Amino acid sequence: MNNYRFLNLPKNPLINNFATIQNLLKSSEDNLARVGAGAQHNYECLTNVKDFISPNVLDIFQQLDLRPKFFACFAKKNISKLSIKDRQLHYDIFLDKKKNDWVSIPFAINWELTPGHTVFHWYDVPVEPGFPDKDREDLPLKELLAGTYYQSPGQRGLPNGTKLIEKVQVTGPILVKTSIPHSVSFDSTASTRYNISLRFEFDDAPSWEAALKKLEPLIVK
Ligand SMILES: [Fe+2]
Repeated sequence: MNNYRFLNLPKNPLINNFATIQNLLKSSEDNLARVGAGAQHNYECLTNVKDFISPNVLDIFQQLDLRPKFFACFAKKNISKLSIKDRQLHYDIFLDKKKNDWVSIPFAINWELTPGHTVFHWYDVPVEPGFPDKDREDLPLKELLAGTYYQSPGQRGLPNGTKLIEKVQVTGPILVKTSIPHSVSFDSTASTRYNISLRFEFDDAPSWEAALKKLEPLIVK
């Protein structure tokens, strides 16, 4: 349990119904049709967190002195199963405009919204990561969320010599370390797999250790 903690949080953090988020992700689903043609993301990042995440959940974070910055919504349409060999190994980064440089994102809190078998994997990778071109215009979300790559941009699977260091089946709301190489496999029973990933102001918890400390009251023992 080095790279994750399950959290005592509602099973679904959304306000109202699931239909809202499904509609919202429609454009994300459409993007999937272009994955093979070079679309670089299949998620949306929403900064109007209060419109989607329930006040109860937001209150909890406020009490912990953590300000939600945005959440990423992922949708995988008509893909019921993706294994690690189909995924892009990466760690999470965002483009810090002031520094004009990539900064790693230390953690996320994730919810799986559809039934299925999702496994988060963390790896030790023997090669240095590559970073997207900072000026790329087809990465519209880069100031919020992007990812490193290994070997070549968009490369799926794992480089030779990569070692699995930890994995966990996601069975509830989970804090995950996102600043080291990771990849997620899933085998969903739904036709579209949805999940959301809540991210916080960088300065509120700029490291994994800081996140653990702030979220301590929520950690499932
Ligand atoms: Fe990630």
